[in-house]
Amino acid sequence: MCGIIGYCGPKPAAELLVEGLRRLEYRGYDSAGICVRTGGKLVVHKKKGKIKDLRDHVPEGLDGETGIGHTRWATHGEVNDTNAHPHLDVTGRVAIVHNGIIENFDALREKLEDDGYVFVSETDSEVIVHLIASLYDGDLERAVKQAVMLLKGTYGIVAMHQDEPGKLVGARNGSPLVLGIGDHEMFLASDVTAIIAHTKQVIYIEDGEVVSVTADNYQTSDLKNRAVDKKVEFISWELEEIEKEGYAHYMEKEIIEQPDSILRAMQGRLDHEYATGHLGGLNMSRQELLSVERVKIIAAGTSYYAGMVGAYVLESVARIPATAELASELRYRNPIVEPNTVYFAVSQSGETADTLYAMRELQRKGARVLGICNVVGSTIPRESDGGVYIHSGPEIAVASTKAFTSQITAFYLFALMMARMRHLGIEAGARMIEQIESLPRLVEEVLRRKETLIPIARKYAHADDVLFLGRGINYPVALEGALKLKEISYIHAEGYSAAEIKHGPIALINEVTPSVFLIPDDGLRDKVLSNLKEVKARKGRVIALAVDGDDEVGRIADDVFWVPKASELLYPYLMVIPLQLFAYYVALELGRNVDQPRNLAKSVTVE
Ligand code: AGP
Repeated sequence: MCGIIGYCGPKPAAELLVEGLRRLEYRGYDSAGICVRTGGKLVVHKKKGKIKDLRDHVPEGLDGETGIGHTRWATHGEVNDTNAHPHLDVTGRVAIVHNGIIENFDALREKLEDDGYVFVSETDSEVIVHLIASLYDGDLERAVKQAVMLLKGTYGIVAMHQDEPGKLVGARNGSPLVLGIGDHEMFLASDVTAIIAHTKQVIYIEDGEVVSVTADNYQTSDLKNRAVDKKVEFISWELEEIEKEGYAHYMEKEIIEQPDSILRAMQGRLDHEYATGHLGGLNMSRQELLSVERVKIIAAGTSYYAGMVGAYVLESVARIPATAELASELRYRNPIVEPNTVYFAVSQSGETADTLYAMRELQRKGARVLGICNVVGSTIPRESDGGVYIHSGPEIAVASTKAFTSQITAFYLFALMMARMRHLGIEAGARMIEQIESLPRLVEEVLRRKETLIPIARKYAHADDVLFLGRGINYPVALEGALKLKEISYIHAEGYSAAEIKHGPIALINEVTPSVFLIPDDGLRDKVLSNLKEVKARKGRVIALAVDGDDEVGRIADDVFWVPKASELLYPYLMVIPLQLFAYYVALELGRNVDQPRNLAKSVTVE
């Protein structure tokens, strides 16, 4: 989604803004621009294309100590220079950048045009700058507040005025905005990655809040001009965590670091004395936890598949009825909220609009919604009724990998805790803790074997279609494997329950299309093996993810990636990582933009 940055301070704003936008590239964008106040005027440079195109376009040595910048992911209006942000009002004295969607922009534009305001772009965002200009009477903050009160929809904006040098005004409703507090300099941004190189002291702006900023001061208030006290938070991430650390791609780095990210997800959350899980942020008493009779999980994309694994784990370990549902579907079907139900909103970014709005719909109906998120201070965790941060560290690649394994870890911990409150004895609980604690080592072993996947990926990289098949707890892993391949290699891929292949998909089997079978040595192995044989009987090509020593699979499949033997519940971890790597190596072979695949954004903050 769009990225925003603003700067007030003594340094030349232009280069700092462009560098900040570069750190927001991972959010996905198609054009970028900056505005600085120089020579008493607002000067805008913006371009369709990548940050490097913008950098080439900005005059060398452009001075100016206050400015705003933006990376645009088009929602209204085609991708071109004019529609890029920042937008200026007709006098050139007001400039804004905006992230979000203004739902009533048509009506506002019509009224403004009737009042003589001239629009140059096709964007919804441009109405904001003309509204501010029309309401400006010498006080930018007041004009911004009056303008945003007329908006319907979501916005994270930063505005500046030629006649108020050294000042920025930010406002937020539904799209993230964070204030970075520096030494005689201040930053505003969509998220901390844009500013972490300069400061780790931040304030998260909430919906309905406005912040006025100068190099040495900031004031936060609401739309009724009431001052709002905000807590200064410290970002624990190091910049190098964000950099690629020598890996070819963020995606490769994030796949490889899963032993550590999984460990971080469980650290401090396993109680060995009582052989249970300990999750501090649920904001639920033991009595409330004991009264839980069902769990419902809402999410999108990869997080939804993690939720499906979570539902399996909750039912098998804690014997609590659990389901996962697409947040985008739940929101509009007038969901029935029952008592004694806990909902989980699973989201790496914590900003996914589908998940956020579904959570709000549930909360309006009286539901308790807990977040399982990665980005600290993002909207879903801040608006949820409690939850679990998965501590994966920044996930920069658009394709989510380490977040998935950390999200399911949160569910394993919750399931263990709930099971130990119910039927699970201390010995069984201790055994489950041992299994969970063995995960980093098992994942290390899978990663040690990653090169064996490269020839397999190269062999099938030019397939037009690929099927992914798994059963039980590994069915959602098959779905996730298909999504990974689709989103970074652009190859059509489908995930199915292996049993389901006979109900139609087997018609797709031919001598070209590869079928990837997840066939761990769990209770469903023999059934999956017979599904695998059905494909082979029709001359289909089979790639199997099988467990060390399963020679029968080794004899039948065309290609095999071997994973170490583990307890049944752990195979989602051991199976998903080869699928992440398979997609990565195929995409490399095809020369795709692995970290920023076409058409995709890291965080989809629009419906
Ligand atoms: C996953 O690789 C995709 N980038 C996408 O499906 C993503 O999982 C989805 O948009 C949800 O994002 P979230 O976890 O930040 O809510």
